[in-house]
Amino acid sequence: MLVLGIESSCDETGVALYDTQGGLLGHALHSQVAMHEAYGGVVPELASRDHIRRALPLLQQVLEQSGSPLSAIDAIAYTQGPGLAGALLVGASVACGLGLALDKPVLGVHHLEGHLLSPLLAKDPPEFPFIALLVSGGHTQLMRVDGVGRYTLLGETMDDAAGEAFDKSAKLLGLGYPGGPAISRLAEFGDPNAYKLPRPMLHSKNLDFSFSGLKTAVLTLVKKHPANICEQDKANIARAFVDAIVDVLVAKCVDALKQTGLKRLVIAGGVGANAQLRAALNAAAQKRRFRVFYPELQFCTDNGAMIAFAGAQRLMRNPDAATRDYSFGV
Ligand code: KG4
Ligand code: ZN
Repeated sequence: MLVLGIESSCDETGVALYDTQGGLLGHALHSQVAMHEAYGGVVPELASRDHIRRALPLLQQVLEQSGSPLSAIDAIAYTQGPGLAGALLVGASVACGLGLALDKPVLGVHHLEGHLLSPLLAKDPPEFPFIALLVSGGHTQLMRVDGVGRYTLLGETMDDAAGEAFDKSAKLLGLGYPGGPAISRLAEFGDPNAYKLPRPMLHSKNLDFSFSGLKTAVLTLVKKHPANICEQDKANIARAFVDAIVDVLVAKCVDALKQTGLKRLVIAGGVGANAQLRAALNAAAQKRRFRVFYPELQFCTDNGAMIAFAGAQRLMRNPDAATRDYSFGV
């Protein structure tokens, strides 16, 4: 079964073709980062308009990569939500338009399910069951995953998502957008002993998170400095922020593994690309004898491959999951 996947929930247009026998046959991505950079964040209307410009050329690119004609596609999966409404509508409209023209069924995929299953695209995928830490710009969740569609929420953020905390703290330090990679790079030069920031909810005895206080703590530190804060101080604050958020994320993952008795941890979502988080998780895994699995770096942030893959997994288990009702949208 050949499934086309379309992702357009935020500022990345992703298209991919996944074959249930041959694996990922092609994928193409356009990031709008450069376009939104000047505004310090995603401008929803610009995002929607750019998805329109990119979707079909990316589709053509994927068809060329895979050598498959459009007519060979069996179903079309698209990101149904959550995300920016206008941006989502573009992907849904392209999917439904193609479905109608080709007489192929369409399937709306939950964006987070795409992220959650993305590590299964890797060469050495984890077996079920596993604990998943989903850390993106919009979500921070710990989940027990017993199979495709069998997800139990164990804990989540009470306020900001981890990626949001990265982005907002980076903004406070005057770093560019997206802030996550920028603050992470700067932290490498920071002195770990210069500042200590709180570890919110570290001892809360549950698996929930809270990151808005951490962002406020960064703001307080920034305000303590004169307007011309020096680069080293910025790096020191960045380091204190990254150390704090990584400590909390790792501790909660370890708690989730302990509570469930599971030995496999999967990291998904944009913040999963973070080098300090990966290093700390790898160290914890070695010490506490669990295995940690990551998606390939290119599939950590939003992409079409995870949507094609999640759609294919759903359809393999339930062929009726897709529909020829092209009016249901997002
Ligand atoms: O999963 P994603 O592409 O989009 C959402 O579904 O939200 O995640 C984007 C988030 C942004 O907040 C971005 O700053 C963060 O992931 N991010 C990172 C890194 N790369 C992306 N955060 C920390 N370190 C990184 N290397
Ligand atoms: Zn995402």
